[in-house]
Amino acid sequence: MAYDLTINDRTHSVPSAWLGESLLYVLRERLGMPGSKNACDQGECGSCSVQLDGQLVCSCCVLAADAADGDIRTVEGVASGSGRRDGAPEGELSDVQQAFLDEGAVQCGFCIPGLIVSVHDLLDRVPDADELTVREAISGNLCRCTGYGRILEAVATVQSRRAGGGGS
Ligand code: FES
Ligand code: FES
Repeated sequence: MAYDLTINDRTHSVPSAWLGESLLYVLRERLGMPGSKNACDQGECGSCSVQLDGQLVCSCCVLAADAADGDIRTVEGVASGSGRRDGAPEGELSDVQQAFLDEGAVQCGFCIPGLIVSVHDLLDRVPDADELTVREAISGNLCRCTGYGRILEAVATVQSRRAGGGGS
């Protein structure tokens, strides 16, 4: 079966696919988009988080063929300029990615793409989210390294910078 996926505003053809393949599998193994990570493959860790029609989903739990008519946003779209809302140049880090770096919120990095997508999703919906809301929003993104403190600091830095402050 062949179908098209719209990912970060670009159309990608998926030829000769098995209809049981997950969106995560198709992104990584068929389309060469490895930003979304596969840590559990069963909807438990959030490392594969993407937006589908504006909703945060675990791409390991979505059939790719079911997303054929959808608008898919992956972590590659956050950084590449394609599909970005802030109009930043191609290849420039998003403000969330920059804050994660500035606050030292990245250790092994395996959870980070999913967290970046989740934080963008949250701050698009709730720009002034308080810490409890942030904790709830990222509760589905498991990180085994950081203890989350620096991740929360990074989110606060983004909020401060967007509000016109410099962040920490
Ligand atoms: S790989 Fe999808 S939730 Fe863990
Ligand atoms: S930085 Fe290693 S799992 Fe989060």
